Amino acid sequence: MTLPADVRPTIGDSTWFLHDRFGMFIHWGIYAMPARHEWVRRRERIDAEAYKAKYFDHFDPDLYDPQKWADAAANAGMKYFVITTKHHDGFCLWDSGLTDFKVTNTPYGKDVLRPMVEAFRSRGLKVGFYHSLIDWHHPDFVIDDNHPLAEHPDREKLNAGRDQKRYIEYLHGQVRELLTQFGPIHIAWFDFSYPTKRDEQGNIIRHGKGREDWDSENLIKMVRELQPGILVDNRLDLEEEWDYYTPEQWQPRIWPVKDGRRVVWEACQTFSGSWGYHRDESTWKSEDMLVQMLINTVSTGGNLLLNVGPTGRGEFDERALNALDAMGRWMHHHSRSIYGCTQAPDDIPAPLDGRYTYNPQTQRLYLHLYAWPFKQIWLDGLAGRIAYAQLLNDGSEVPWHETPADAQEQRGGTVRLMLPIVKPKVTVPVVEIILKR
Ligand code: GLC
Repeated sequence: MTLPADVRPTIGDSTWFLHDRFGMFIHWGIYAMPARHEWVRRRERIDAEAYKAKYFDHFDPDLYDPQKWADAAANAGMKYFVITTKHHDGFCLWDSGLTDFKVTNTPYGKDVLRPMVEAFRSRGLKVGFYHSLIDWHHPDFVIDDNHPLAEHPDREKLNAGRDQKRYIEYLHGQVRELLTQFGPIHIAWFDFSYPTKRDEQGNIIRHGKGREDWDSENLIKMVRELQPGILVDNRLDLEEEWDYYTPEQWQPRIWPVKDGRRVVWEACQTFSGSWGYHRDESTWKSEDMLVQMLINTVSTGGNLLLNVGPTGRGEFDERALNALDAMGRWMHHHSRSIYGCTQAPDDIPAPLDGRYTYNPQTQRLYLHLYAWPFKQIWLDGLAGRIAYAQLLNDGSEVPWHETPADAQEQRGGTVRLMLPIVKPKVTVPVVEIILKR
């Protein structure tokens, strides 16, 4: 889908991204073993040695089979994936030449990234790399207020020998490895900036990190040189150079705007709250919520990146597989209302109890019904515009009337769709409305 004229242009190629709409986020690292949040090192103030001794020295995902992961993603209808090459703990999933803190030095002893990239590509998915700007393992990364050692009594002393410039070299060097050794990469997903905050007198109230601490300007320049066309997220603390906006763990109500212009955007969401595998979390989203989340996102012009946190043995756990399976069952019949779709034209008023998406190329409007109405539903603004309508789950005709049975129901150009009494047996039924050309 080409970028609509009223959307802020991207520097990278967003054509495929706007079409594909649905991707898989994967957070995997040695934090899968404590299985209580990927920030466990910070939350529990674990020092680097203890963290390494427990998890790095015992990481052995013996059941890891990336083809199974790729199959689960493809079957769910996902078209791209974004994998954490390194998270904030600094652990690297590939055989980096710049650190020892990498998967090849764990008991597992093998690169996990390359086979993953190959497996997902073999299922036709595009590849994105999440890379943490933050690194709690690197000895030159200056301890700030987010660091596991933030409250360490000797913080000043510990920071004395640290040189953020050297860390920047490391960061850029690793990004260079990632963007030169794994073939075409479609997304660079950097995470994240939290600039130092000062009060009105100029006193620091929070020590953070931003564009100077990553040298974001040169980093993004290199990224675009190495992978022309790559899309870059908005977390480098740069005003203009990013491609897309990334609301996390919340859903925009309307299409997000910057400087009065709609932007390309992608919501990232978890199944249960944390990104890394969390054994004891019980806040898993229901099938309905997940499907509606995808629809809501596309209906406001966005993409959904839905996260899986694989286990320490290298598998998607049963809860994740069930959720993906449910998405796949819905997508099997309804992907036409997702791929290549976006927000409905502004002159079509929103329906009651549901959402529209719209495919500008085929000029088809998709009515997603969140509450099944009794026999009929009134839609404003469509009189004279419908060529045909059908349910997507079975392709059965949905007849319509241009004149409401009761004059009180008439607003502007109201149409009445005639629905079966019983809701089709799908999570969210969809009526495909083919508009006259
Ligand atoms: C965050 C968190 C993190 C997660 C990410 C995903 O900012 O630090 O753990 O990887 O968002 O969006």
